[in-house]
Amino acid sequence: MQDVDNLYTEIVTDVSGTTTLSQLEQIEIKHFGRQGSINTSLRNIKQIPEKERKAYGQTINEIKDKASALLEKHRQALIEQAGKEKTVDITLPGKHYPHGSLHMVSYAIDEISKIFEKIGFIRMSYREVEWEWFSFESLNMPKGHPARDDFETFFIEHEPDPTLGKMLFTPHTSSGQNREMKRLGKPPIRMINMAKTYRPNWDASHVPMFHQFEGLCVDKGINITHLKGTIDYFAKQFFGPEREIRLRPFHFQFTEPSFEVDITCGVCKGTGTVNGKRCKLCKQGWLELGGTGMVHPNVLRDGGVDPEEYSGWAFGFGVERVYSMKEGLKLDDIRILYNGDIRFLKQF
Ligand code: DAH
Repeated sequence: MQDVDNLYTEIVTDVSGTTTLSQLEQIEIKHFGRQGSINTSLRNIKQIPEKERKAYGQTINEIKDKASALLEKHRQALIEQAGKEKTVDITLPGKHYPHGSLHMVSYAIDEISKIFEKIGFIRMSYREVEWEWFSFESLNMPKGHPARDDFETFFIEHEPDPTLGKMLFTPHTSSGQNREMKRLGKPPIRMINMAKTYRPNWDASHVPMFHQFEGLCVDKGINITHLKGTIDYFAKQFFGPEREIRLRPFHFQFTEPSFEVDITCGVCKGTGTVNGKRCKLCKQGWLELGGTGMVHPNVLRDGGVDPEEYSGWAFGFGVERVYSMKEGLKLDDIRILYNGDIRFLKQF
């Protein structure tokens, strides 16, 4: 009889110790299964002295009834709880959801803007659909001037404006210079115009839509040393403190004097050679960054700024270009930036 007394206590402990339905099923088999403790005890009845068999049998049946009521109650409780909690097995490995990232060009724009904002330049984003006048006349390129041909242009089929001319996709961010001068009314001006620009070219090294950033600084007493100092600051912040720049005389209609800016090559450190061989990236130690110069008096005048009182400098660089130079990306085909191939884009 001793075993039988313990049986009920054992079942109660087992049942109440389960926290999931599958654990409870195991306990059910252990006690109520064919080979379970209850049936085993019933089969043992033969070993009990005859006189006691009746009482023994009754006790076991009572235990069976009580225990199965208890088990059912516990099962209901577990079902209810599972419904409420939707039990989660926290030991399972987590799911990795794919997450997006910004486009490489957005990272570049962000980084470049911050560098100029640190020294007080205001980030603007002037229009990409523009009037002819802002892209050309306001930049000292009157109608019919051959310099316009350097900026191959998408014109838009739209009624021309009697004074501003045709509507176009601006081929350079320089069109923002006049707009910024007019927005502020008078200097000081420190602008970084970051915008989409368009030219009708589509090949391995050109895309019809790309990005430029245009610096414009106009104030009293501004001269070339300010221009050079600012571009040098940008080059060192963006490419690294060991990089040097140089100005090479050039021609733009909207600046006088005009220059192209070069930066020392990051691979050969400006020497033009790597291990005694000619540097494969730059060939002569320098890489071209873009155009710059002192703002032409006509451009200031068109912006409502008196060139006798004020002077300024400007530059225009390509975002995609400087970013690939910084990262040492040798893109065989620059179109990969815009064809939406996630395998390429997700590397940034
Ligand atoms: N707008 C020129 C281009 O797209 C770049 C440029 C050159 C901008 C000289 C400037 C500048 O502001 O001063 O090729």
